[in-house]
Amino acid sequence: MFFERHGGGERAILVHLDGQDPEAREDPQEFQELAISAGAETVAFVNVPRHRFSAKFLIGSGKVEELRDQVKAEQVELVIFNHILTPSQERNLERAFECRVIDRTGLILDIFAQRARTHEGKLQVELAQLEHMSTRLVRGWTHLERQGGGIGLRGPGETQLETDRRLLRVRLKQIKARLEKVRSQRIQARRGRKRADIPSVSLIGYTNAGKSTLFNAVTHSDVYAADQLFATLDPTLRRLELNDLGPIVLADTVGFIRHLPHKLVEAFRATLEESASSDLLVHVIDAHEPERMQQIEQVMAVLVEIGANELPILEVYNKLDLLEGVEPQIQRNGDGKPERVWLSAKDGQGLELLGQAIAELLGEDLFVATLRLPQRLARMRAQFFELNAVQSETHDEHGDSLLAVRIPRVELNRLVSREGLKPQEFIEQHTLQ
Ligand code: GTP
Repeated sequence: MFFERHGGGERAILVHLDGQDPEAREDPQEFQELAISAGAETVAFVNVPRHRFSAKFLIGSGKVEELRDQVKAEQVELVIFNHILTPSQERNLERAFECRVIDRTGLILDIFAQRARTHEGKLQVELAQLEHMSTRLVRGWTHLERQGGGIGLRGPGETQLETDRRLLRVRLKQIKARLEKVRSQRIQARRGRKRADIPSVSLIGYTNAGKSTLFNAVTHSDVYAADQLFATLDPTLRRLELNDLGPIVLADTVGFIRHLPHKLVEAFRATLEESASSDLLVHVIDAHEPERMQQIEQVMAVLVEIGANELPILEVYNKLDLLEGVEPQIQRNGDGKPERVWLSAKDGQGLELLGQAIAELLGEDLFVATLRLPQRLARMRAQFFELNAVQSETHDEHGDSLLAVRIPRVELNRLVSREGLKPQEFIEQHTLQ
């Protein structure tokens, strides 16, 4: 690893920029939690109104002086901005304060670096960190000198900056090659599971909603769960047995967050690829969180981006133990299908209801439609008949079979993915149930 982790407990000033536009504004509460997650000890939280912004420092020079005095007086080691800084703003601020300055991207990268657990997650974070770092290379990369520079590494006539750039390119290439390898192994593993006909369920949700705690409670496994944001970065899989249904694979995923730094979006999406091929998404929501509606919207927006918004979703309203007068229960929609489960992952109330709701949805989520199957898919057609899923059949002038089917969605997905296809490739007409 290129990056050393500082021991934590760094004395920090947090600078929050108070803009007018509610869409672009970051949440100050979330900022403080992120800083705690990164291991900062907050000395002061400073609000800066938008009209004082400047190009050189982002904030006004009066504010810069004020902060410099505070940094000195309180022996502050780090100033964190809840905003994106340009490399030159970061440099100018560091010169003015004579201490380290990081922006929101740097902060979130740092948290991801601490939380990444699998090999792939670690590589993805390192890649994002290196890319972030490469735009800031001009100011001299002292920690790199300490780690990798020196004997044997410095080419003749190279300045430190050239050496740094060369090392960076070599490392980026290595990481990209390794990532490719890990990814292809993961895809192989996923195919294996599909072939084994095991339905998969992914836990998704906003950061801190309680996914890892729920995953632990359900699987009795030792997944790391802590009172910190991003306890999870990598998808983690467990196989469980559900009464009435049999085995399923449960995946824990990375928590969603608003305004994710651009450099991390790709890494983040890759960890969610797993969910996009699930049979069911379990959306974990912190029922005690006042901003839960906005968090739900954020999660839904990301699902649209990764093409997973058509998948069936079961909502889990977690942290029931913090609410007064709400019983563990399954809420159902007009058709009687489970829509929402109220439970507490922490004390286990309602946990069995989750298994019941998942089994019901996976077992009974019926797909009713007319499919157009060309003759080359005769084997698949025969399988629909074997499963008693065919309601009627006609043929068109090309000899294609028009098959009206009624089949549990998991069965359909299995059947179709065995042929390496997707259901939407041959839906002629959806039938409303
Ligand atoms: P990320 O990894 O950041 O995405 O978070 P996560 O969704 O996996 O959340 P995690 O399981 O780490 O839980 C976050 C915090 O909420 C921890 O402090 C948990 O102890 C707490 N928590 C989780 N479930 C419950 C619950 O049912 N009740 C209460 N009171 N706290 C809970």
